[in-house]
Amino acid sequence: MRVAVLGVGGNGTGKVRVLRTCPEVDSIIVTDVREQRVREVADELDVEATTDLDRILNDRDVQLAFVSSSNDAHRELTVAAIEAGKAVLCEKPMANTLDDARAMVEAAERRDAYLEIGFELRHSKLYMKIKQWIDDGLLGDVLNTHCLFVSSAYWPKGTWRLKPETCGSMFGEKLSHYVDLPRWWVGGNVTHVHAQCAPNAVPYYEINDNYHTTYRFDTGAVSHLTFMMAPAATFQGDPLQNVIDQQTGDGHELRYLVQGTHGAAEANVFSRTIRRWQFSNQEEDFTSKVVEELTWPAAEDHDYFHNTTDQTKEVVRRVAEGLGPATPARDAYETTRLCFAAEAAAAAGRVVALDEFV
Ligand SMILES: NC(=O)c1ccc[n+]([C@@H]2O[C@H](COP(=O)([O-])OP(=O)(O)OC[C@H]3O[C@@H](n4cnc5c(N)ncnc54)[C@H](O)[C@@H]3O)[C@@H](O)[C@H]2O)c1
Repeated sequence: MRVAVLGVGGNGTGKVRVLRTCPEVDSIIVTDVREQRVREVADELDVEATTDLDRILNDRDVQLAFVSSSNDAHRELTVAAIEAGKAVLCEKPMANTLDDARAMVEAAERRDAYLEIGFELRHSKLYMKIKQWIDDGLLGDVLNTHCLFVSSAYWPKGTWRLKPETCGSMFGEKLSHYVDLPRWWVGGNVTHVHAQCAPNAVPYYEINDNYHTTYRFDTGAVSHLTFMMAPAATFQGDPLQNVIDQQTGDGHELRYLVQGTHGAAEANVFSRTIRRWQFSNQEEDFTSKVVEELTWPAAEDHDYFHNTTDQTKEVVRRVAEGLGPATPARDAYETTRLCFAAEAAAAAGRVVALDEFV
């Protein structure tokens, strides 16, 4: 299969490296709007590279395109690739406006095309374990989830991620992963969301750098996400993409608690643990005890909490076999809707119904 990567910065470069390991892939072509980057990539990765997007769109041999550009180009590249008959994996967040995200889903549905969004946490062992516990009935019905995410301010000044017009929002760019998970775990539909932001801690971020967000599902379950960027000790790089040992104990936190009717689960990235509690027969005497505790070696960090590799490989396999996406784009659109509703709730300081965002 011939595969294209549209946008070859950090993420796109990683995609090329993984694609090289896929037996189904026999040729790769990449594009970027930066001529210099295209020249560098051709040398560094020894790959066919062009600034001419149309060359890829008109190449009938290209079956699959990975959209790894900055967020402001996701709609344009995704819709163009779908219209040209390609299957697409577009990185999260889907787009910088809900209209753009809807246009992407509708383009895919109109052509019955493969469109998947880069929510690789659904392919990561840590979060899959919790999903398995839930599906096996070990937690009962999920009632509450809580995510605490504390990070250093690792996006440097002057990058596209700090501006609303190129990034969209912190919610889409960073937190879409962490609201997508409870949607996957709980399985119901989010009906309402409330969010509050304090003034920013990092003065040169033009997007919000903190959130307290609560959202309710039609199952009755409630999820909360607290995100603070700045308090953890400075680390010049994404703490989740680099060696987490360096951040352990320095204030970085990424922790999920999931509570059900029969038990609870915890995922703790920085202590590399997953735990499960089981509740007693509650009518008699409500007690809780830890019944499972798992950990993983540092060498498996990527597989456990950030598994872009397996998502990329699975997309290639599915497209090669003529299958649809593991998670339909319509489902990712629901996560996107939640992100925009949370932003609106934070801006307005009120509870927002998801129905307000179609
Ligand atoms: N799933 C994840 O965990 C994860 C991790 C990192 C990045 N991402 C996503 O991947 C995307 C890229 O992030 P990155 O870290 O590689 O950013 P980056 O800035 O390193 O690279 C983005 C590249 O896109 C190029 N570009 C911009 N507009 C383009 C266009 N119209 N056509 C072709 N190329 C274009 C830029 O020139 C740049 O080289 C973002 O959407 C980001 O949110 C996802």
